[in-house]
Amino acid sequence: PTPHDLAGLKVVVSAGPTREYLDPVRFISNPSSGKMGFAVAEDARDRGAQVTLVTGPVNLPGPSGMEVVRVESALELRDAVIQAAQDADIVVMTAAVADYRAAEQQHEKQAKVAGDVSIQLTPNPDILAELGSSKGSRVLVGFAMETHAGVERAAVKAARKNADFILLNYPTQEGTAFGGDDNQVTLVRADGTHEDWPRTSKREVARQLLDEALRVREASGAT
Ligand code: C5P
Repeated sequence: PTPHDLAGLKVVVSAGPTREYLDPVRFISNPSSGKMGFAVAEDARDRGAQVTLVTGPVNLPGPSGMEVVRVESALELRDAVIQAAQDADIVVMTAAVADYRAAEQQHEKQAKVAGDVSIQLTPNPDILAELGSSKGSRVLVGFAMETHAGVERAAVKAARKNADFILLNYPTQEGTAFGGDDNQVTLVRADGTHEDWPRTSKREVARQLLDEALRVREASGAT
């Protein structure tokens, strides 16, 4: 039987990609499937937490027994996560938030022109960093996908965003990360300490993630 060790806690999870529309029919996005975030939300629910899942566009049915908020853009994701996180105990940002959006979103479909075109992009707000800047007693968890120097880069990110830890995964391993049912992650803390976890199902990674979040919470003395 699953222990109800998250009973009484509120857990907010973001999942999936974001879509940054250039015009009504074109957007910038990425191949995030949402599976990792949905696994975290489902594991938290089964352990007794009150869960809000904020998800970008994914091909997954909304899980029962939790609040599911569907969004498209990074700005919409930000608003929903910040609002849900106000009274949260644990926030897990698995969403693959687009770093940039169009500086000007066109309201009409843009016709093809001869030759090259340029699109001006502007940075999206960093949601995890915003949560970290007024952290309170919340446990904040991020994900990072890196192709090189992963541990160092993830430790710098955790420190800069004031996250308790980041799970580093790799886009290049068959069957893991983007779209896969398994994941192979390295737990990286802001102080640079890290642990490689063996490849396993996303649900098992979710379980270990929430175990670690509970340890952080207990060590911080939050009740
Ligand atoms: O994109 P990056 O590697 O910085 O993502 C690290 C973590 O920060 C992830 O958990 C991601 O969800 C989060 N993030 C965010 N807002 C952004 C970009 C990333 O919350 N604009």
